[in-house]
Amino acid sequence: MFNLSVRKLLTKLFQPLMGIAIVLLMTVGWPATSYAQPNSTIPAEQLAKAVGAIENLDALRSGLASTLEGTTEPPTLDTMKEVCKPVGMQARQLSKENGWQVKQIASKYRNPAHQPDNLHSKMALAKFEQTPELMGFWDREMLDNQSGTRYYRRISVEASCLACHGQKDNRPQFVKDNYSQDLAFDFNVGDLRGMYAVFYSR
Ligand code: HEC
Repeated sequence: MFNLSVRKLLTKLFQPLMGIAIVLLMTVGWPATSYAQPNSTIPAEQLAKAVGAIENLDALRSGLASTLEGTTEPPTLDTMKEVCKPVGMQARQLSKENGWQVKQIASKYRNPAHQPDNLHSKMALAKFEQTPELMGFWDREMLDNQSGTRYYRRISVEASCLACHGQKDNRPQFVKDNYSQDLAFDFNVGDLRGMYAVFYSR
């Protein structure tokens, strides 16, 4: 309980700061990336908020995954399940709170809800694949017949991810059982795992 509220508080403090820092960096030139300011009518403050929220979302997953590292006993089913599901739940929560559409998208997906949803998202994945130093960018695009702005942010594979996204045969049993169409395995550290996408219709 205590831990949770401390984390919430830190998130509240950290999120806007992170967003503003990143938007500033994007304006002055993020080292080795090609963040471009979107050509849209969305206020910079909203953009900063989205960027910050996605940084937190990514940190949430890394944090949860790292709790599995270095454990001597095999993790229980419950701890195994508590890594990427909460990220999806938090993405839905962010969508609800902000009127955004927050998604995770991957070409090698585990949950079919995370497959590319338009041509732009396929192109975005290809762009991240071809440009390893690219962390994120904005795009003007159509989604479900609405025009808007979309923010894309890379998701990279870390060592802690391999427990569930490593070799096919080494996947946890709950993954083998529940994801019959799974494509999200055989990754290596540093690979592109997928991306976050935040869409505002406007
Ligand atoms: C404990 C097992 C486990 C670990 C560790 C794990 N994942 Fe996942 N991952 C899953 C499961 C299960 C899903 C499908 C969740 C769902 O149904 O939405 C998933 C889904 C994802 C997705 C959404 C796209 C898709 O394929 O459906 C991304 C992106 C992702 N994981 C990235 C990572 C990254 C990056 C790490 C390491 C930091 C990581 N995962 C660690 C089990 C895991």
